[in-house]
Amino acid sequence: MILVTGAAGYIGSHTCVELLNSDLGIVAIDDFSNSSFQSIDRVQKITGKKFDFYEMSVMDTEKLEMIFSRHNIQAVIHFAGYKSVSESVTNPLKYYQNNITGTLFLIEVMKKYNVKNLIFSSSATVYGNPTNVPISENSKVGVTNPYGRSKLIVEEILRDIHNSDNDWNIVLLRYFNPIGAHKTGEIGEDPKGRPNNLLPYVSQVAIGIREKVSVFGNDYDTTDGTGVRDYIHVVDLAKGHLKSIEKLYTQCGFKIYNLGTGQGYSVLEVIQAFEKVSNRKIDYTFEPRRSGDIGICYADPSRANVELKWYAEKKLDEMCRDAWNWQVKNPDGYKSHSVYEGIL
Ligand SMILES: NC(=O)c1ccc[n+]([C@@H]2O[C@H](COP(=O)([O-])OP(=O)(O)OC[C@H]3O[C@@H](n4cnc5c(N)ncnc54)[C@H](O)[C@@H]3O)[C@@H](O)[C@H]2O)c1
Repeated sequence: MILVTGAAGYIGSHTCVELLNSDLGIVAIDDFSNSSFQSIDRVQKITGKKFDFYEMSVMDTEKLEMIFSRHNIQAVIHFAGYKSVSESVTNPLKYYQNNITGTLFLIEVMKKYNVKNLIFSSSATVYGNPTNVPISENSKVGVTNPYGRSKLIVEEILRDIHNSDNDWNIVLLRYFNPIGAHKTGEIGEDPKGRPNNLLPYVSQVAIGIREKVSVFGNDYDTTDGTGVRDYIHVVDLAKGHLKSIEKLYTQCGFKIYNLGTGQGYSVLEVIQAFEKVSNRKIDYTFEPRRSGDIGICYADPSRANVELKWYAEKKLDEMCRDAWNWQVKNPDGYKSHSVYEGIL
């Protein structure tokens, strides 16, 4: 049985689908601070499988203990955390509390119940302003905001825990830029309010919720001057967690993997690809660079390719098509369908 924290979120829900489709049993928790109960319903609908779900925070150690005593948990995938860079700048304490303290509480309980297999959601943000691309796991880390710092601090705490007790198997996954949605259009990214990430913004412009995309910076040293990122289909990312579970069970010790495609796309390339699959015109304007933004960021995923035997397979067109399918089916996110009448 695998405990999934933050299971109702964007990456968590897609990973639950892949775990269930591979016949791995899961127990899921989420406090819905940034998600909806409907994603849990939809995961059960897509897979036709039921699982135990608890609405709770990872900060609630009493309930966590109840879960560990009730279920035979062998490993934990820890997605639960806050992820807005801008909010972390205005409210760093909120991020340090939830992302760092939450993880500490979880690890205490894991240790108490002798469950020492953990996958942690880290981020390419830990590389800060990379001096070279592609970025390998050996590239220098250096964070530029409290969100990134919360990830880096947890990474270092987890390294110390492994060093103090080699029974711990810990895989840190540094995600690049997950986009897209499940091909059924049942689950996808559902930002609350104004999206922070490019793809949800582009989809909302395409569907008419927003007027135009603001492209920050057109004077970067890239082919068309706009920022380049390593966009990865969320289902490819989810599959990386399955491979990481297999790795944990080989008693792998402490491992760090980049999960990216190794291919960068500029903002304008993404907008063009989205226009093609949606057959809609996406208006945009150029705005000045945002402070703290970087020009080019893409992964060297070769360590994950070799050691996990994991490859990102889906191309940009498919990422945009699936994101658009999700947007069209759920124009207002999970709010579009408040009553689910599926198998539950
Ligand atoms: N999406 C990205 O671009 C990205 C990139 C790199 C890393 N990450 C990390 O991956 C993880 C998942 O990201 P996501 O995009 O799915 O975000 P998300 O916000 O959609 O999912 C996180 C989930 O955790 C839940 N949660 C937050 N605090 C909790 C708590 N204390 N107890 C229980 N549940 C809690 C939220 O309600 C949400 O459902 C996060 O840790 C995030 O920092 C995301």
